[in-house]
Amino acid sequence: MNPERRRPTHDPRAPQGTTPVARIESLGLLRRACWLELERAAQERDHGWRTLALATVDADRADARVVILREVDAAAQCLRFYTDARSRKVAQIGQQPLGTLLAWCPRLSWQLRLQVRLRIDTEERSVQPRWARLRMTPAAQDYMSPLAPGLPLVAAEREPDGGPRTNFAVVHAEVLGVDWLELHADGPRRARFDAQGEVWIQP
Ligand SMILES: Cc1cc2nc3c(=O)[nH]c(=O)nc-3n(C[C@H](O)[C@H](O)[C@H](O)COP(=O)(O)O)c2cc1C
Repeated sequence: MNPERRRPTHDPRAPQGTTPVARIESLGLLRRACWLELERAAQERDHGWRTLALATVDADRADARVVILREVDAAAQCLRFYTDARSRKVAQIGQQPLGTLLAWCPRLSWQLRLQVRLRIDTEERSVQPRWARLRMTPAAQDYMSPLAPGLPLVAAEREPDGGPRTNFAVVHAEVLGVDWLELHADGPRRARFDAQGEVWIQP
């Protein structure tokens, strides 16, 4: 069977009551569409991919949490989000930089599972311009707590000096592989994109 022309049977998991949209048949176009949608997600508050679940390794177990997609550099295959440098995820990434980003967009009916290599960046030239933009927004509060994230409130130890910007960190997520899944009334489709190319895979 020509994988470009496969028409799977009806998928009962496909969202009900939505108008079926034309499906992208070319793997190359699909790959580009994923990156375009990621770029949109970093700009549009209500995009389904704006919030991603970031899975990391915590010693010998999995951990996960939601983060907001802040920047997308399609040419460099890199996503960026912001965090508090004192948070657990930062320590986990220091031990094991390989992680997974997971997102679902109801409008597209697309799930994205990204294999990523994570890097914490607290360098002044990275932090300064981003913090300058962020500090005027309500989101700045997330990085201004005197307590590190996750600490019991009773154990409050105030930050000695340095100010909130010292807690602000940029996380770069280099995308190593993309696992794309589409739910659709005509049946699900799944594809994998990585350095080797693009391939349809069994959903
Ligand atoms: C909608 C939503 C968006 C969030 N965005 C971020 C974010 O961009 N960066 C971040 O560090 N934490 C974000 N959080 C909080 C994290 O999910 C998590 O609770 C916090 O970062 C501590 O995680 P950790 O202990 O695993 O480091 C967000 C939570 C929600 C519910």
